[in-house]
Amino acid sequence: MNIPVTTLNNGVEMPMLGLGVYAPSHNSEVQQAVEWALEAGCRLIDTASAYGNERQVADALQATNLPRNEVFITTKVWNDDQGYDRTLRAFERSLERLRIDVVDLYLIHWPVQEHRRDTWKALEKIYADGRARAIGVSNYYQAHLDELFEQANVTPAVNQFEFSPYCYLPDVLDYCRQKNIKPEGYAPLVRGEKQNDPRLVAIAEKYGKSTYQLLVRWSLQHDVITIPKSVKKERIQANFDVLDFEISEEDMATMNTFYDNTRVAPDPRDIP
Ligand SMILES: NC(=O)c1ccc[n+]([C@@H]2O[C@H](COP(=O)([O-])OP(=O)(O)OC[C@H]3O[C@@H](n4cnc5c(N)ncnc54)[C@H](OP(=O)(O)O)[C@@H]3O)[C@@H](O)[C@H]2O)c1
Repeated sequence: MNIPVTTLNNGVEMPMLGLGVYAPSHNSEVQQAVEWALEAGCRLIDTASAYGNERQVADALQATNLPRNEVFITTKVWNDDQGYDRTLRAFERSLERLRIDVVDLYLIHWPVQEHRRDTWKALEKIYADGRARAIGVSNYYQAHLDELFEQANVTPAVNQFEFSPYCYLPDVLDYCRQKNIKPEGYAPLVRGEKQNDPRLVAIAEKYGKSTYQLLVRWSLQHDVITIPKSVKKERIQANFDVLDFEISEEDMATMNTFYDNTRVAPDPRDIP
């Protein structure tokens, strides 16, 4: 399977489709899930220190024996670890758990108001030292990005935020593109909440795909990196089996109208 790759603003290549591993109640299944995903051709794993499973990701990478440079690993600094020195220390702990020397992408998980400026300085230091191939942010909307630009020496390569037809904010996408930041969407499947939406079902049926596959494809056709999560083999395979069909312009436009602000995580607009 040839998963499309995008080139970030610093020339680093990143797969457009990967595996999310936020699995709070079943971290013991994460190693196996990552192995299945890598077998299915996945080359992007999205973890975070807050998920408590960086070690499981490392175990999977070791078990599959793929060359380190073939798998793109993202991890993130959690809110409690923000601030300059704390972030540097949290980063070292993440790398120790992941058993790697350099991470592919390091993100600020949430824009914690009192610390995010210093946290970004720490990420710039990590990047300058060559310990992360790219750095970025998550859950940043325009106001957070504008504040970051006041001080930043490095433009974030990626902004990861919630993205599905039900949480589709074209302004956020456009702003990222204008600033040369690659958008990455999380919770593309809305954690299954919309699987039976009859409008979604009707479109999925036309293409002979599940509503889950339709949602993954919709993100990709918006040119947004996407990281659906599953710990089940058949579902992982299905979520990656989305490269053999194309949603028509008309159906994309219809899906774009499904916005109802359904979210699995807090709305960044509520973070000052
Ligand atoms: N930056 C952030 O603040 C942030 C926030 C949230 C998420 N994320 C990242 O984004 C990733 C994805 O988001 P998410 O995990 O919140 O939600 P999601 O990917 O939208 O949905 C995952 C849920 O859908 C189920 N599922 C997956 N594929 C399915 C299929 N083909 N058929 C039926 N059910 C299916 C999974 O269950 P099973 O596992 O049982 O299959 C799981 O309950 C996370 O894992 C994490 O890496 C980042």
